[in-house]
Amino acid sequence: MSSINYSEKIPNNVNLGEDRTLQRALEQWQPNFINWWDDMGPVGSTDMDVYLRTAVSVDPQGWAQFGHVKMRDYRWGIFLNQGETDRKIHFGDHIGEKVWQDVPGEHRANLRRIIVTQGDTEPASVEQQRHLGNTAPSMYDLRNLFQINVEEGRHLWAMVYLLHKHFGRDGREEADALLVRRSGDENNPRILGAFNEATPDWLSFFMFTYFTDRDGKFQLAALAESAFDPLARTTKFMLTEEAHHMFVGESGISRVLARTARAMNELKTDDVNKLRAEGVIDLPTIQRYINFHYSVTIDLFGADESSNAAIFYSSGLKGRYEESKRTDDHILKGQTYKVLESRDGKLQEKEVPLLNGLNEVLRDDYITDSVAGVDRWNRVLSKAGIDFTLKVPHKAFNRNIGALSGVKVSPDGQLVSGNEWFAKMDEWLPTAQDRAYVASLMGRVVEPGKFANWISPPNMGINRQAADFDYVRFN
Ligand SMILES: [Fe+2]
Ligand SMILES: [Fe+2]
Repeated sequence: MSSINYSEKIPNNVNLGEDRTLQRALEQWQPNFINWWDDMGPVGSTDMDVYLRTAVSVDPQGWAQFGHVKMRDYRWGIFLNQGETDRKIHFGDHIGEKVWQDVPGEHRANLRRIIVTQGDTEPASVEQQRHLGNTAPSMYDLRNLFQINVEEGRHLWAMVYLLHKHFGRDGREEADALLVRRSGDENNPRILGAFNEATPDWLSFFMFTYFTDRDGKFQLAALAESAFDPLARTTKFMLTEEAHHMFVGESGISRVLARTARAMNELKTDDVNKLRAEGVIDLPTIQRYINFHYSVTIDLFGADESSNAAIFYSSGLKGRYEESKRTDDHILKGQTYKVLESRDGKLQEKEVPLLNGLNEVLRDDYITDSVAGVDRWNRVLSKAGIDFTLKVPHKAFNRNIGALSGVKVSPDGQLVSGNEWFAKMDEWLPTAQDRAYVASLMGRVVEPGKFANWISPPNMGINRQAADFDYVRFN
């Protein structure tokens, strides 16, 4: 195999060129990654030149460059945020000790598991989204999809870098396995449930990037607190990119709502059939999509009571969201947290040791953050004079992990019987007809400046480009 000059080919700030072992490991992994991209990356995109941002440094003032590139040739850079000199562990049993530049033997298995679990979500979402380019509602949206796809690819590189650099042979094996599992595959699925769900249409895509990429934000933020400094620095930089992914979701849904609201006002109706005849997405369908994506995503935070969560925190591997802004003792022993369970025919709170409830703490922080964006969606409706309020469902709704798993709860938080659940399911979750209707809207619109009928144009172009900018050149 020809040797690749990684320090030139892969933009990085980790002195790749000086570490021969690492360089060799990455040289062996890189062609497998490209094979994976060719097999599982965006369908039919090989010859397209896409207007992408590429991370070129960690300088907040100028970390990315924009330009037309082929995705296959994207420069999947490896960047760690600048280390703080003398950074100290700021939570858990090792509080006050120096952070680790290498993996302590006793935490090796847990750290590897954390990194692999995070790493696995990155290629998974690329796989989930690989067909969406065929039905893009505009060239602008197509470009945003591809931007997210290459950055998830770069996030995979970020995790693989850590595995190769710090975990020896097991790390290399795990890095290989990340290219072998497949989203939705019966025999070798991705690790986490939500990453095995299909993302069949653009409404799902916007919901996914709003809700599920936001799970990514919270997981990365918790890892950005880690005592394992390379992990903290890597995830901090990944968060810079994640913001755009959530923007795509939030603005995508806002644009769908703006278009639907316009049709409702023009036709002076909220009749679902009339709106569907007009080719826009009715609000009850959007609400059902929210119910689905939200409930599937909050499962990603794991069981509400978890001894692993306690171990990860106490040993300094994974902090809380914005750990350093909190004013408690950052050790959390002897404190409690409230989780929900179904008891005596109703949902009731139960106190558990705070350390064991840390998954729930992160889930609750996530919930606060996601509700804020739903309020912004509602403002699109209220500004248009539409009397309809979108809501996230109760956190016990449609859960499959933890104490609430399988408990039958309505979106507004009432325990219901099995019969009622099945009778109401079509009101609460997307039906086959909803999905078929949304699918029927999905046609490819890719002339510069043109948009599908079901979505409004964005307020502004990417990198301040004009409305008819050619974000993707088809060759
Ligand atoms: Fe990611
Ligand atoms: Fe993301």
